[in-house]
Amino acid sequence: MKIKNNNEIEELLNINNSPFQKFYEASKNVRFRKDLKKPPETWKKVYFKSYFRFEQIKLPKIELPKVALSKALLKRESIREFTKEKVDLKRISSLLYHSAGIKNLDENLYPLRFYPSGGGRYPLEIYLLSFNTELPNGIYHYYPRTHSLEHIYAYKTINFRKYFDQEWVKGSAFIIIVTGVFARTTVKYGERGYRHVFIDTGHLGQNFYLNSIPLNLGCCEVAGFKEDTLNKLLDVDGTEETVISTFSFGNPLK
Ligand SMILES: Cc1cc2nc3c(=O)[nH]c(=O)nc-3n(C[C@H](O)[C@H](O)[C@H](O)COP(=O)(O)O)c2cc1C
Repeated sequence: MKIKNNNEIEELLNINNSPFQKFYEASKNVRFRKDLKKPPETWKKVYFKSYFRFEQIKLPKIELPKVALSKALLKRESIREFTKEKVDLKRISSLLYHSAGIKNLDENLYPLRFYPSGGGRYPLEIYLLSFNTELPNGIYHYYPRTHSLEHIYAYKTINFRKYFDQEWVKGSAFIIIVTGVFARTTVKYGERGYRHVFIDTGHLGQNFYLNSIPLNLGCCEVAGFKEDTLNKLLDVDGTEETVISTFSFGNPLK
């Protein structure tokens, strides 16, 4: 057998030095300052991004039809085929609220959420691309503090191939993009906090999937996105804030 380069030799010797293994080693120990008398403000304050200069669309009354959790769990599956019918704003509102919203919205208290977050740091931001909904086509940012969508960009259509690897995604009525603002978590947990951001995304993602059942929406996570171009579309820098995952939605075909 001919060995072409060092990478192949390392692979054969099973040397543990791929970038992810190095990162895992470096982030194994939590850098958590238990010795501090008073936790710093940056560990307690919950940060929300807002595009307050853009049009704010207050979302309609929030309703989630009652379905037993056991039924929702049984019915949960990834749906990739959608009808051509528009998705109404009421269902989008309910999906966003019951997945990523603030439970005690009317009280001026510490915001309680529908998904857990490592250290209560809530590093995730949510964007929505509309293609076939009651909203005009464009990019929206979800602002949980007022349960509003901020209309940050309008388009007629987008070139899906530029942003996604898979053809079926073109049929989505809307796509939710989850980004992570790492510093919100790493300020408290150091390198280890980077991992928490992805774990939080999994919890939020399961909310999207389960809430889709009573709302009669089809949902499928799409990790097959092109990170650099999608970051550019959202105008996020890809370092401090970057796309973590995306979720496609529509009226299910079957
Ligand atoms: C992190 C993650 C990324 C995924 N990315 C894609 C994707 O890019 N394209 C796709 O068609 N499905 C994607 N899926 C959906 C999985 O293929 C699906 O969950 C799996 O096949 C199990 O099927 P089920 O969800 O219907 O139970 C992804 C799921 C997860 C959790």
